[in-house]
Amino acid sequence: MNELLPALYDHLEPVALRIARRAAMLEPVDAQRAYLVDVARQIVTHGSFRAEEPSLVTPPGLEGALGWFKLLDVHLEDFVAGRAEAAEIIAEGGGRLWETFQARDIVCAVFGHGVARALAPMLPGADVLELGTGTGGTTRRMAADLTTANRVVLSDLRQSFLDRVGAELPGVPLETAIIDINQPPAGIGPFDLIFSTNCIHVARDLPLTLGWIRRGLKPGGALVLGEGSHYSEVVPSPVSLVLSLFNGWWDVPTSPERPQPGFLLPQHWFAAFEAAGYRNTSMERWTDGPRTFGGVYWAFA
Ligand SMILES: C[S@@+](CC[C@H](N)C(=O)[O-])C[C@H]1O[C@@H](n2cnc3c(N)ncnc32)[C@H](O)[C@@H]1O
Repeated sequence: MNELLPALYDHLEPVALRIARRAAMLEPVDAQRAYLVDVARQIVTHGSFRAEEPSLVTPPGLEGALGWFKLLDVHLEDFVAGRAEAAEIIAEGGGRLWETFQARDIVCAVFGHGVARALAPMLPGADVLELGTGTGGTTRRMAADLTTANRVVLSDLRQSFLDRVGAELPGVPLETAIIDINQPPAGIGPFDLIFSTNCIHVARDLPLTLGWIRRGLKPGGALVLGEGSHYSEVVPSPVSLVLSLFNGWWDVPTSPERPQPGFLLPQHWFAAFEAAGYRNTSMERWTDGPRTFGGVYWAFA
């Protein structure tokens, strides 16, 4: 269990609950806003989010997450009524807020840390692919260990991310590639390890994405994922409110196997791994009982 997460989420819940109570009363003008209002109503109806901050002092490391909540707080009514666009609100946060959130915010960093720790013993001599490298919240933590690998391919939708992260990895046998996880890439493997932190849940067709990843692994190779989670089947993660601004979060197709957009619960990951032909699946699970926070998953080809 990651000991930090319950306390961090205790600080996020009152902020999320205040926004959820307002949003639950609003009339959404389209599907994106309807997602936000639905999430807000689930949070309010379930009634489990704490209403008061656990202490007067907010612990350091939540600046990114709280920065996004603050923006949503300011623009909530305008956004839900269609007077403000998600892209405008995101632009107000800008690249700096995105990087503060992704690469430094503890709510994100614990996942990068968990993946880096899990992978370290496996890296010497390995051919490795990362999906959704982003601002390098996972990769930078692996800088020293990655120098022992045989081949390291970092990938994302944007080359600029990869160039910046790559510049901070001296001595790593590095390549970069533009890979959209929704489109099987041609001729890039095979790999001993494929890893990804908080990216694969955006897959529009999870069986397709998990399928091509498995075929890109050598026999016995491993997929390692760091993934957040909704609290439960009926209680969304508090960050769902702010992530409703982002395409790829709110708009993934749902199905009986994947009942909520955004994060998947552990049982949904395990079922998806099995359906895609992985073996020996396991996870380091981070939960405090009623709240599941996510964890680090292993699935072998
Ligand atoms: C939440 S960030 C995580 C970044 C990084 N893994 C980390 O641990 O800091 C998700 C990343 O997934 C990337 N992403 C989003 N949709 C994607 C897609 N369809 N294919 C590949 N990457 C995608 C984003 O560009 C972003 O860098």
